[in-house]
Amino acid sequence: MRSRTVSGVITLILAVVFMAAGCSKKEPEAAGQVAAPAPEAIAAADATAATAESNAGATVYKAYCAACHGATGKGDGAAAAALNPKPADFSSGIFKYDANGNGVAGEVDDIKAIVHDGAAKYGGSPLMTPWPMLSADQSQAIAEYVKSLHGG
Ligand code: HEC
Repeated sequence: MRSRTVSGVITLILAVVFMAAGCSKKEPEAAGQVAAPAPEAIAAADATAATAESNAGATVYKAYCAACHGATGKGDGAAAAALNPKPADFSSGIFKYDANGNGVAGEVDDIKAIVHDGAAKYGGSPLMTPWPMLSADQSQAIAEYVKSLHGG
């Protein structure tokens, strides 16, 4: 009697273990489906990251501009050698473009316009492409950062 009870318990335990094993086999698939983030969620996360960066002109500059304009703005980025005209040297403090036509080139507003529209719109080179995807905050931060490279 006693041994039957024990074997019954063991059978029960084994049954539970097998069921659990059977279930756990399915779990990764189900978890994978639940964990896969929706595209909207990714977009929202990107937007949050972009907002967090919005005041960090240096961060955006390094990501988007340094390849041509150089880490310190001297116009000597890795891609610069192959470009003609050369990327502007921001360390000189000398700017060509007066995008808003007020007689003073290289103001924060001019830089914002060049970055948003590209230089070609103002008679310059299409190598300086438009960056319309930058938020207003990012453009402001990046333009101020470009100005700060003067003398660097
Ligand atoms: C593919 C290379 C490249 C990248 C990347 C690039 N630029 Fe340029 N940039 C140029 C070139 C080339 C010129 C010169 C255009 C000309 O003289 O007509 C220029 C010119 C400029 C000017 C005009 C300066 C003046 O003399 O008035 C500004 C401002 C500027 N870039 C800002 C930026 C910013 C900010 C970024 C990053 C968002 C950036 N650029 C990314 C190549 C680049």
